[in-house]
Amino acid sequence: MQRIKVEQAEPGMVIGHPIETSSGQILCAKGTELTEGLVDRLDNLDISHIFVDGHPVDDGKPRKTLKEELSVLERRFAAVGDNKLMSALKMVVQKHIRNKHQRELEEKSKEAAGLEESDAETEATDAQQFKLKVEKLENLPTLPGVVSKLSTMVESPNVSTAQVGEMIQADQVLSAKVLRLINSAFFGFPGKIATVTHALVLLGFDAVKGLVLTASVFDIMATEMLQLWQHSLGVSVASGIIARRTGLRDVEEIIVAGLLHDIGKVVLNVEGPELFEQVSQKTAGSDLLFIDAEQEILGFDHTLVGDWLCDKWNLPANLRDPITLHHTPTRARNAVQATAVVHMADILVRAVEFGSGGDKGIPTLDRNAVVALNLSLSDLEEILDEMEFELIKAEDLIPEE
Ligand SMILES: [Fe+2]
Ligand SMILES: [Fe+2]
Repeated sequence: MQRIKVEQAEPGMVIGHPIETSSGQILCAKGTELTEGLVDRLDNLDISHIFVDGHPVDDGKPRKTLKEELSVLERRFAAVGDNKLMSALKMVVQKHIRNKHQRELEEKSKEAAGLEESDAETEATDAQQFKLKVEKLENLPTLPGVVSKLSTMVESPNVSTAQVGEMIQADQVLSAKVLRLINSAFFGFPGKIATVTHALVLLGFDAVKGLVLTASVFDIMATEMLQLWQHSLGVSVASGIIARRTGLRDVEEIIVAGLLHDIGKVVLNVEGPELFEQVSQKTAGSDLLFIDAEQEILGFDHTLVGDWLCDKWNLPANLRDPITLHHTPTRARNAVQATAVVHMADILVRAVEFGSGGDKGIPTLDRNAVVALNLSLSDLEEILDEMEFELIKAEDLIPEE
């Protein structure tokens, strides 16, 4: 409770002590919440102060700390000596002061929690708004069209590989990029793949779908986000090495998952360049991981953005889980091993400093991911050796800076 001047009274304040009119009539009982009307009436009363509950109202006076108030009390009672009654009174006042400070602290922490809640609400709204942007992807015009066509085509049971191939091939620029990716040394196909249909036969529909996505963002990555493109190529190469070594099926899909794993960062940069810049600035001068800076600034991160994309484009688990869960591989339920592979590849590529994921740090390697792939430390050493050789092959996809 605090004694305040009548002119400091505001609607919403709660009366801590009954207010009486000059005739003794109770105007406000204890616990009444002041309304605008009541505040006006208070002004017309012949009183100067009222008592209100809650945290202190700023009256311009510096507030004393608990320690200061107690030492003032000590001084005030110093002359009392060993008067028993006064000693008892001193103890009561001490208790009162302690209680008052305790209540103020509680009020403050309630207020802070309220603020945090409203911050969380704002973050939720920000995330919702960003999600809408991601769903429209206005700044990646070719992307949603082709990919959603692909999604609907493949749902039809009668569609042939050739028809899907022709549809992709209709966008010549896009299919040229897809073929360039597939024919680059790092993919490891010995012969030349001349058509998208051929690619579909060799790699499977899901891997090609992922490559279409990669090709769609290639220009943005190759110009504005070269370090991330190099990092993604590196993760893709490392994913292929680990997947082959552990004898996994669908190696091509896992290679594509490596290429796409940080696509949420590309979309963040395209749809919210100022937000992306803020996150980049935050990581620039520190050891903070990009994902932690995203959480601090945005309240969400590129894996959630990736998740929205996967939802929108109906991507299969072998792409979706690595994109969404490469930082938390133990949460994978469907593509457990593909996610473990990309998680490990992400960390190994950071360790050898091939490109950059936007930060200088290396996240901790999840032991469960290593166990899920049945790899030993000596396997890791050999994987690193192989990576050194294979990463050179990815260089032909990295434009000169
Ligand atoms: Fe990531
Ligand atoms: Fe990454």
